[in-house]
Parts: sequence; C-alpha cells; structure tokens
Amino acid sequence: MFSIFANWKSHKNLVSTRAWVNTFLDAVDITFSQAILEGRIELVLFPPAPLLYPLKLLVADHEIAIGAQDISSLPEGKYTGQVSAESLSDIATHVILGHVEERQLGDTQDIVQTKFARAQSGRIIPLVCITSPDQIITESPYIVYEPTSAVGTGNAASMSDITSFKSSCHLSPSQKFIYGGSVSPDNIDEFMKDDIVDGVLVGTDSLEPLVFAQLVNQVLSHA
Ligand code: PGA
Repeated sequence: MFSIFANWKSHKNLVSTRAWVNTFLDAVDITFSQAILEGRIELVLFPPAPLLYPLKLLVADHEIAIGAQDISSLPEGKYTGQVSAESLSDIATHVILGHVEERQLGDTQDIVQTKFARAQSGRIIPLVCITSPDQIITESPYIVYEPTSAVGTGNAASMSDITSFKSSCHLSPSQKFIYGGSVSPDNIDEFMKDDIVDGVLVGTDSLEPLVFAQLVNQVLSHA
C-alpha cells in the first residue's frame, strides 16, 4: 500500500476548503475510492484544526481519512487553547508529530514523546516526522523523513539520499517509511520506484486541488 498524506499547514478556510474538495473530486480518477478500499493506497488529509470536522463531512463518501497536524501534550482538562487527544479521537484518525516546523517552534524530543503517548491513548495513529535517526520513536507505525533542506523549498531529496538515510534508521519490518519535502507530480514517479518509500507527505503541492489530483492520479497508475 502506498500512503499519500496531504499537510495543508495553516492554509485555507471553510470557503476555500469546500472549493478544494469540489475541484479535487472532479479531477481525481474515479477509481481512487476503490483503490483505498482494496488497500492499494491510503489518502489522509491534514487540514488546520478548525477544518477537521467540516472536511470530514465533505469527503465522507470517499474513503478519505482526516488527520490532525498536532495534538496537545496535555490531557483533557483545564488547559485553555489546547487540542487534546480526547477531543480529536472521534474526528481524526491520524496525527502528525514532530514536524520540523514544530520542532523549530519549540517541540523538543521529550514533548514529541509525550504527544506520541497522548495520541496512542486517544487511538489516533501517529506519524513521527524526523530529520535525523535519533528522533525515531521505535513504536511509531509511520516514520516520516523530512530533510530541512527539502521542506517547502522545491528541492526534494534525491532517491540515493533517501535510501541511505533509510538504511541508517534500522526500522522494524512493520514500520512504514514515508518521505516528505517538495514532493510534486514531477517527482512522485521517482519516489514510487523500488519500494524504498511507503508513501509521501505532501505540503505545497496538496494546496492546489488540480495539482494534488494529478499527483494522486500518478500514484494510482502505479499502485
Ligand atoms: P512541502 O512540505 O511539500 O511544501 O515541502 C512538506 C511538509 O512540510 O510536510
């Protein structure tokens, strides 16, 4: 199975999300829901927190899953402004943890570990983003390699860099290895070669629905 994860970061509002869904569903190959049901691909959209539930409703008939971009390190309680695992647990199936942009804003490895435990207690599947092997959480089902030089720059890492990074990670056979950083319709075919990468986390090129539909269609042609 090849995973496609779309990280919208802090882009979009309700109006642009509705428009995105309409355009995407018109442009994507209609077999995509079938491919998800057959386990050939999985497709998870990670919108900003206020859009999680509306987006879940908008795509409800299409087997697309909805994930959160972050989770509080604190439990449910008197923590104004925090989004706890408990409040996400019946909306989001997945959560992104340790994204380099959050590590730059202060998420230490200890915080990422705590958030990981919160995600597990809320039965939310964690995607742990790393820039170096020492950030791996061994129990995480998904490890997402996102080299800083590739995130949001248009300069994706080369397959040889990704392959050698992966071999330094010593992942367990059940752990999925995901690549993120300037993934686009122009380079997605490369990332699907040789079963090195089990999926991709797409930022910039998930924002435009026609571009993202093209990327999904290319994945479908190989999956
Ligand atoms: P990018 O972002 O595709 O714009 O490089 C990827 C990410 O940060 O998840």
